[in-house]
Amino acid sequence: MKTANTIKEVRETVKEWRKQGLSIGFVPTMGYLHEGHMSLIERAAKENDKVVVSVFVNPTQFGPNEDLDNYPRSLERDTEICEKSGANLVFFPEASEMYFEDKSTSVSVSGLTTLLCGAKRPGHFDGVCLVVSKFFNIVTPDRAYFGEKDAQQLAVIKRFVRDLNFDIEIVGCPIVRECDGLAKSSRNAYLSKEERKSALILSQSLNKAKEALSKGETSANKIKDIIINSLSTEPLAKMDYVEVVDSLSLSPVENINAPILVAIAVYIGKTRLIDNFTY
Ligand code: PAF
Repeated sequence: MKTANTIKEVRETVKEWRKQGLSIGFVPTMGYLHEGHMSLIERAAKENDKVVVSVFVNPTQFGPNEDLDNYPRSLERDTEICEKSGANLVFFPEASEMYFEDKSTSVSVSGLTTLLCGAKRPGHFDGVCLVVSKFFNIVTPDRAYFGEKDAQQLAVIKRFVRDLNFDIEIVGCPIVRECDGLAKSSRNAYLSKEERKSALILSQSLNKAKEALSKGETSANKIKDIIINSLSTEPLAKMDYVEVVDSLSLSPVENINAPILVAIAVYIGKTRLIDNFTY
């Protein structure tokens, strides 16, 4: 497995692979890799001849009071995980390699970004779309792999890829969970022992909602109430949002009669966690 710090090195390697007629899968990450990322890299390795992973804590997608400076980093461990999972090239750029100081172009998806995390983290998706579109232009993959845990991110990326005619297949991959149900996330590293236990309330609350849906509940408000009531039983949990939205348009629904996304964001102490399911 190769590693690269510069765009030039990535382009040279990709050019060589293209000359040989090889297909390329791409997994963008912010590092501190876990089994969720491993599942993306392994899937990319199954479906492509070569796999590129980027590890870059992207400053443009963090708000002023968010966790950019404290975001967990572990380059050596990430390199090992990439190699074990089947990556062929890991790209670790510095921010100065990715962004010009006087950059003046933005990539902004409207509509899909007004609710859920978009409403709570202004500018976040502009930062995600900018960095992902830059990576797409650098790596020029055939396929790119994203986790369904960030369901809104996946929908937003699919939309700009369609709207801007990127010739890249976007592949969504299922949420990977700990044995007790907590969705894997690099941010789980922030949780104390006590908070880690409390964090189970996210998947437990979603399971209650799933159960109600399977029994025939069709009111989005009732589903939200079930989740809100369940979250309120956990003293360390503070709800950020609970939403029931159309799974394609991400617009709120009242009566559930088409595929929906039930998405939540919850603070456990200072750590903001997200989880979701589609139904
Ligand atoms: O999901 C993430 O880790 C990031 O948002 C991504 C897609 C790597 C862009 O920085």
